Amino acid sequence: MSASPTTTDRTAESSALHAVPAHPGTLAERYRAVRAWTNALCEPLVIEDYVVRTMTDVSPTKWHIAHTSWFFETFVLTPHFPGYRPLDARYSYLFNSYYVQAGERHCRAQRGFVTRPTVADVYAYRVHVDEHMLALLTGAVRAANAFGQNGDDADGVHALVELGLNHEQQHQELILTDIKHVFWMNPVRPVYVPRDASDAGRATPVGDGPPRWIDVAEGVYEIGHGGRGFAFDNEGPRHRHYLAPFRIASRLVTNAEYLAFMADGGYRRAELWLSAGWDAVRADGWEAPLYWENEGGEWTAFTLNGTVPVAPDEPVCHVSCFEADAFARWSGARLPTEAEWEVAAAAAGPPAGPFAESRRFHPGPPGDAQAGGGLRQLYGDVWQWTASQYTPYPGFRPASGAIGEYNGKFMCDQWVLRGASCATPRSHARLTYRNFFPAPTRWQFSGIRLAADA
Ligand SMILES: [Fe+2]
Repeated sequence: MSASPTTTDRTAESSALHAVPAHPGTLAERYRAVRAWTNALCEPLVIEDYVVRTMTDVSPTKWHIAHTSWFFETFVLTPHFPGYRPLDARYSYLFNSYYVQAGERHCRAQRGFVTRPTVADVYAYRVHVDEHMLALLTGAVRAANAFGQNGDDADGVHALVELGLNHEQQHQELILTDIKHVFWMNPVRPVYVPRDASDAGRATPVGDGPPRWIDVAEGVYEIGHGGRGFAFDNEGPRHRHYLAPFRIASRLVTNAEYLAFMADGGYRRAELWLSAGWDAVRADGWEAPLYWENEGGEWTAFTLNGTVPVAPDEPVCHVSCFEADAFARWSGARLPTEAEWEVAAAAAGPPAGPFAESRRFHPGPPGDAQAGGGLRQLYGDVWQWTASQYTPYPGFRPASGAIGEYNGKFMCDQWVLRGASCATPRSHARLTYRNFFPAPTRWQFSGIRLAADA
């Protein structure tokens, strides 16, 4: 069992994230590793960093580390650990996110008002949950009330644990994107982790020239998750999908290309934008990606490594679906549908790229990522906006009960992003993964890959 980290003696400058194995063997080992990575991501923080909430989409770090424990407590320990007693019965109200069937919950907009329980209290909560979870996972305590699909009591519990681990990995990414916004809102612009010395020469690396187009033939393709291994319910069922012939760009759109769009009046030309996108440009005063600032004619970007010059051949990042769509229109291209992205990426092999474990927390130029199937930067730099609305696949059926609220009830007014980002844990990336956010969203590590009709 991992001890709760202490945080009072840490500074961003002195911390180094501990190594955590990416693919441990047993479920208990995987549980330990995933929980340890959450703690490792918090090591650069000081107590004051944990409580702040700077906008609608952001949750305090303290809430993330408590809520991920609440998930295991609510869906594994309370129903399946014989005689389980919560550390504090009030936490079920404080740290439920959106599961209506799991009971009343604290208002999301007021998560930043909660100074008690303290950070030490929520780390003690993590330890309490870890002790009970590992007793179940190591067989020291036999699970009760299980419902294994194969008649094995352990199956149902293990499936819930696997879901809880993937849930925690989603919050690991949110811990990073949220603390980035918290630090951005602070005028002294704290550094989360300094850029590694080995990365010093990569600020303006040599790019690989214009993107190539990868042609994909017309056909009826199978997409979606249908095999072994974990996937969220929204990734299935696997099904057939017709695609007209199309082409997809070999790499992500770069900052240099996006700067050309800006210089050509991209943010001032209504004809390039969807109506709702143009409304957002006007209402929010967008004139560059989130975290960019112009200082004396030079653009800088705020990163988790501090403020750096905008590197021309790094992927543009922190753009909304509206900006991605407008850039694509300006380019004479379009965004890929999620089916097009998946069919093209299927030829590229297993996910590879600079994931969170690289500790860069910032996308890199094309040379850093895989080139399988002619496609680069599929995973581990930025999530890629698609032209697909987030809707259920044919035959999709959410699970009954509160756990069925995980994905299905959000299938309205959101757009699918594919791939993975520099904040995603390596073992969390998958070909069939369907990330989703509303079109104006910019605080995620989101970027652009172009497509076109053949
Ligand atoms: Fe959650």
